[in-house]
Amino acid sequence: MYDKGKIIPGLIIFLGLFTFPLWYNAGNAGNPPKPEKPAGYQKCVRPVEYMRTSHMVLLNQWRDEVIRGDEREMIMIDGKPYPKKLQAGCMGCHADKKKFCDRCHTYASVKPYCWDCHFPPKEKM
Ligand code: HEC
Ligand code: HEC
Ligand code: HEC
Repeated sequence: MYDKGKIIPGLIIFLGLFTFPLWYNAGNAGNPPKPEKPAGYQKCVRPVEYMRTSHMVLLNQWRDEVIRGDEREMIMIDGKPYPKKLQAGCMGCHADKKKFCDRCHTYASVKPYCWDCHFPPKEKM
């Protein structure tokens, strides 16, 4: 017979230890990145919560629409038109790749390969 009195507490202790790095870091994951918001702009192309988690999805969607679908209509933000482009669109506002994109990506250890072909904006010296 199983000894419920030992197995259940044992399981709880095991789960606690096993997941310790997860919950221990939940409130304190090192220094979170502080991407520098573009000066002079209030809004992104989508709500900021969506952008934070899903900007890569939107980029792929734009690429497919522009390249495969030839849907090059501009998107309007605060009455101003922006092209659905990485350089001229996103980077038109987020002009400092190092202080914006790279701050998060370095932290998250992601290296988008986009810059193999697309030019990043020229950094101010
Ligand atoms: C092998 C080279 C290459 C790589 C790598 C690459 N692209 Fe592109 N991308 C292109 C070319 C060529 C076009 C076509 C430009 C045009 O016709 O205006 C394009 C167009 C686009 C467009 C639509 C128009 C524009 O100029 O922005 C988006 C958005 C885009 N790519 C996003 C990405 C993203 C995001 C990544 C990384 C995940 C990426 N690309 C990686 C070559 C590349
Ligand atoms: C019209 C200017 C503009 C364009 C174009 C633009 N952004 Fe933004 N973006 C902003 C602003 C302003 C914020 C901050 C919004 C806020 O805090 O409410 C922002 C926020 C973000 C965030 C969240 C940053 C954070 O602090 O968590 C990401 C990620 C992002 N943008 C990526 C992109 C990408 C990728 C593109 C192209 C697909 C893009 N943006 C196009 C102005 C722009
Ligand atoms: C708020 C933090 C943050 C900002 C700012 C940010 N990114 Fe990201 N980005 C991430 C994270 C985190 C991932 C990895 C997500 C994943 O793997 O699911 C990522 C992934 C990506 C990817 C997919 C890469 C891959 O290999 O899958 C692309 C493309 C990308 N980002 C483009 C950009 C561009 C362009 C900018 C600047 C305009 C930018 N990001 C700004 C956090 C950010």
